[in-house]
Amino acid sequence: MSRAITLTLKVWRQAGPEQPGRFETHQVGPVSTDLSFLEMLDVLNEELTLAGGEPVAFDHDCREGICGMCGAVVNGHPHGPEPGTTLCQLHLRHFNDHDTIVIEPFRARAFPIVKDLVVDRSSLDAVLIAGGYISVNTGAAPEANAIAVPVRRAEQALDAAQCIGCGACVAACPNASAMLFAGAKVSHLALLPQGAPERASRATRMVAAMDQMGFGNCTNVGECAAACPKQISLANIARLNREFLRTAFRGEEDGEG
Ligand code: SF4
Ligand code: FES
Repeated sequence: MSRAITLTLKVWRQAGPEQPGRFETHQVGPVSTDLSFLEMLDVLNEELTLAGGEPVAFDHDCREGICGMCGAVVNGHPHGPEPGTTLCQLHLRHFNDHDTIVIEPFRARAFPIVKDLVVDRSSLDAVLIAGGYISVNTGAAPEANAIAVPVRRAEQALDAAQCIGCGACVAACPNASAMLFAGAKVSHLALLPQGAPERASRATRMVAAMDQMGFGNCTNVGECAAACPKQISLANIARLNREFLRTAFRGEEDGEG
């Protein structure tokens, strides 16, 4: 049943990448608990704008948990405290009247702050560009059922493919590692025959890109999987490590995998 609640928000405000940041306190409400977290921020921004102030900048697009654009740290949790939920799908019914909510941007060296809650996550794109693709020949599409894929492999590949590239795993990790993200991409492609042509070098190239972009190393803390809104499994990090070692020890080249 919906309720009307009033919230105190402590929101990170930062005018630009080189500007100092600070927490700003705002009251919002009464608002319906049917609202999503982002809709509540919309209400706050409307009030700020009407009062002549600057609205809080935050990223969003689909608001359906699909695109990976949204993301902020809510009370210490990337995407908020509800497991398996993106910030856009988090609803106010999970909060109580007169709660104080602390809202911060994802914090990681590889995610410089652009403004307020918006961070630049193009470092994840660089990791993807390094290896998260397959070679596709032009011409007629092959018959979809021509290459049989065992059901278990297909399910594991599709589970990994659920990663929406939001970066919450990086924000949750004390080392700001992107291993869960990269593991999901490598697993998705390593488990399917379509990913075989570049399999030998994919993990090596993606790990090198992670180092270059300033992501930290994985020390098996597991906070990444706990924060992931798509519940990507830690098994994908283990598979990334195996793919990396496979190349290192077997000395394969692309096309041999
Ligand atoms: S692994 Fe999860 S938390 Fe990390 S980018 Fe993908 S969906 Fe987001
Ligand atoms: S806005 Fe698209 S996943 Fe949240």
